[in-house]
Amino acid sequence: MDIKSVGIVGAGQMGNGIAHVFALAGYDVLLNDISQEGLDKALALIDRNMERQVSRDKISAEDKAAALGRIRTTLTLADLGPTDLVIEAATERETVKQAIFEDLQPHLKPETILTSNTSSISITRLASRTDRPEKFMGFHFMNPVPVMQLVELIRGIATDTATYETLLAVVERLGKTAASAEDFPAFIVNRILMPMINEAVYTLYEGVGNVRSIDESMKLGANHPMGPLELADFIGLDTCLAIMNVLHDGLADTKYRPCPLLVKYVEAGWLGRKTSRGFYDYR
Ligand code: CAA
Repeated sequence: MDIKSVGIVGAGQMGNGIAHVFALAGYDVLLNDISQEGLDKALALIDRNMERQVSRDKISAEDKAAALGRIRTTLTLADLGPTDLVIEAATERETVKQAIFEDLQPHLKPETILTSNTSSISITRLASRTDRPEKFMGFHFMNPVPVMQLVELIRGIATDTATYETLLAVVERLGKTAASAEDFPAFIVNRILMPMINEAVYTLYEGVGNVRSIDESMKLGANHPMGPLELADFIGLDTCLAIMNVLHDGLADTKYRPCPLLVKYVEAGWLGRKTSRGFYDYR
């Protein structure tokens, strides 16, 4: 199937990045959110991030203008009906995602491919509750989307080959690299990354190091671009906790138990950069 238009549900940090890369690759993008403020903020951020790329000669000013012209926004989920591909990039809660699919699917064309940017939830289970499990896939981008090269492609048990091959071609047109992952909790990247972040929180909790020494150690000692606590703040501590819970519940192994300190931060509403407070204070 030839994909020309893309509907994106959720204009948060993942949704706006996904809109950014699809528009630059020439797709017509319809971005949906539940608040006008969310849509306005997303458009402003896309403009700023594209400007960064212009100032570093990654794209031309004409590319930027053309890409921005390809992005439309809507508060009405049903408006996504005529698009060829839908990417759900809402919050990492299964009930929220299910409600979106239920509201959306009566409006979709039968051939539309439905995907979720979930970072951990079972694709087979999400797909089974839609009207098109064979045209449903996990389509997992990394943050910041315009910079990170990888996209994970996750087939549910019922996903057909045509759907997988269509998304593979889309990833290629985006200029990114696909990694195929089997449908097990948190797939590949987060299966490895989140226990590392959780272990960094344990290292802090047990007093082995402080926030700065833990991050400095991993930056200078393991050549990571960001320390694990800084990265947790960047991803969002609520998302990190949600993924650890999926790993713990899904794999039933105590090695995936979320660190109590991570739980406490989330309970405090200290979710990282997005709330201006996490392991670091951004106020
Ligand atoms: N849009 C466009 N360009 C951006 C950008 C954005 N949002 N953010 C950064 N950039 C560009 C900058 O313009 C810069 O471009 P040049 O190379 O041309 O100069 C480049 O990216 C590097 O940015 P900076 O110089 O501002 O800063 P940096 O060197 O400190 O890099 C970073 C920033 C790319 C975020 C880097 O710190 C990094 O790679 N961090 C790790 C990110 C990571 O691990 N992401 C995965 C998270 S896990 C995930 O996403 C999965 C999940 O489900 C939770």
